[in-house]
Amino acid sequence: MDFKSVIRDIPDFPQAGIIFRDITPLLAHSQGLSSIIKAFQAKFAEISIDNIDYIIGIESRGFILGAPLAMALGCGFVPVRKPKKLPSAVFRVEYALEYGTDTLEIHQDAIAAGKRVIIIDDVIATGGTAAATAKLVEQTGAELVAYGFLIELDFLNGRKSLPNVPIISLASY
Ligand code: PRP
Ligand code: MG
Repeated sequence: MDFKSVIRDIPDFPQAGIIFRDITPLLAHSQGLSSIIKAFQAKFAEISIDNIDYIIGIESRGFILGAPLAMALGCGFVPVRKPKKLPSAVFRVEYALEYGTDTLEIHQDAIAAGKRVIIIDDVIATGGTAAATAKLVEQTGAELVAYGFLIELDFLNGRKSLPNVPIISLASY
């Protein structure tokens, strides 16, 4: 499937001058999710990434893609959540936004040390969210094996903020 032909461009959202890449038409397509998951599997297989223990999905759009990928790979799913959502003890990371900061959390006991994980999100823009998630994974002692994104905004060069592991993206702008 040509993902970019089904992803919708919304000009001036959430603010003037920004083109929002809206994945909801792709998710609504009867073959959309299955095509995304197959494409992730093919790309990871191509670079010999296997024996994954957990997919780490980043709230909230990373959940939509991460959970079915975990099913397809036959591995577990672990959510990284926005603050004050997880009920048990958490590791927390605060990261800088253009204005202010944001926070993400993971359960301290979600992943045993040494387990192999892939971080999944819908979009990498500045890379701040994905870099912060790597810091959470590091605190668990798990091994970050790769990243997978549906969309990469190349011109923001977010991947330069990420640890040195393979980064897969399915559609670039
Ligand atoms: C969006 C997107 C990524 C992140 C990418 O999430 O889903 O998670 O921003 O931006 P970055 O690379 O500059 O960090 P958002 O925080 O808007 O929330 P949502 O997933 O809950 O919609
Ligand atoms: Mg998000």
